[in-house]
Amino acid sequence: MPQTRKPYRRFDGSSASGIFGGDGLRRPWLPRRLVSRSNSAVDPPMFEMSDSEFALFRDFVLEMTGILLRPEKRTLLENRLRPRLRAHAMTSYLEYYTHLRGLGPGAVGELANAVTTDTTECWRSPHQWDFLIGTVFPVLESQAAATTSTRALLLWSAGCSTGEEAYSLAIAAAESLPTPLARRVQVLATDVSPRAIERACQGRYRPARLAKLPPGTLERHFTPEPDGTWLAQPALRERVVFRIQNLLDPVPAQSPFTVIFCRNVMIYFAEAVRQRLVDRLCAALAPGGWLFLGPSEMLFDPPAGIEHRAPSVYRRSLP
Ligand SMILES: C[S@@+](CC[C@H](N)C(=O)[O-])C[C@H]1O[C@@H](n2cnc3c(N)ncnc32)[C@H](O)[C@@H]1O
Repeated sequence: MPQTRKPYRRFDGSSASGIFGGDGLRRPWLPRRLVSRSNSAVDPPMFEMSDSEFALFRDFVLEMTGILLRPEKRTLLENRLRPRLRAHAMTSYLEYYTHLRGLGPGAVGELANAVTTDTTECWRSPHQWDFLIGTVFPVLESQAAATTSTRALLLWSAGCSTGEEAYSLAIAAAESLPTPLARRVQVLATDVSPRAIERACQGRYRPARLAKLPPGTLERHFTPEPDGTWLAQPALRERVVFRIQNLLDPVPAQSPFTVIFCRNVMIYFAEAVRQRLVDRLCAALAPGGWLFLGPSEMLFDPPAGIEHRAPSVYRRSLP
């Protein structure tokens, strides 16, 4: 239980600036295809994406987000973008692509909103939280005991989606670190999708997203709402700062970080993008800092000075 709280300190860094399934179906090529049409205003036409349109979007998504869209993702891409065509009263994917290109760097938010997937939950992959609390936190405690430093301990949820991972980090620190150390913890949480960050800032979740939290923590850190959702309490919110940030851009200026969670994000990236990101994440770790990747995101060739410490968990060596 948190015993005391210190005033909220904001990160002062810049606010810079998924993921797909799919049915794998390919359809015959027709220019600006009208797959089905109704004369009802509430059932607008459905256009199908041509091969060349898919190639344009695939390259654009890769350039702007690092996400690699394989051919089997095409149907889902169509389905994700179709509402955007309707919203802009456009009649082809090429027209929407031209519109996005015209936005320049500003296109990344709209594109990310359309193509990323926000699948997440609190305490996702519980064994990694066990490792954080059972192994990483005791190391931080003994390091803190050996110094008089009162510097902030920075934890970064990179690719935080709608915020559950970031709030989980704040809960883990509040529940499991000694109060003086817990008060030094600040969580930075970033995502390329403005829509995901907006929802993260709201901090309102359905029970299914909270079901894996350890017993008792839900009631201590969230408040039930009349509509059945749970709202993050102010003391929890003030531990977390959310920012829109593209992981293709330089890492946040607040580095070095004591712990970085970048889970279930780079699995969707092209290999070259993934390698560059791993290098930058590792360089953003404080000496002795910890990097948590998703359970399926092992590093087969970790950068120099990075040790494998547990499944999908890496540590930067101490000098
Ligand atoms: C599947 S969610 C993972 C959420 C959380 N880390 C977890 O493991 O539960 C992947 C997130 O990565 C984000 N993402 C994808 N490409 C990104 C990029 N280039 N920069 C920052 N975030 C990105 C997506 O917007 C999405 O919210």
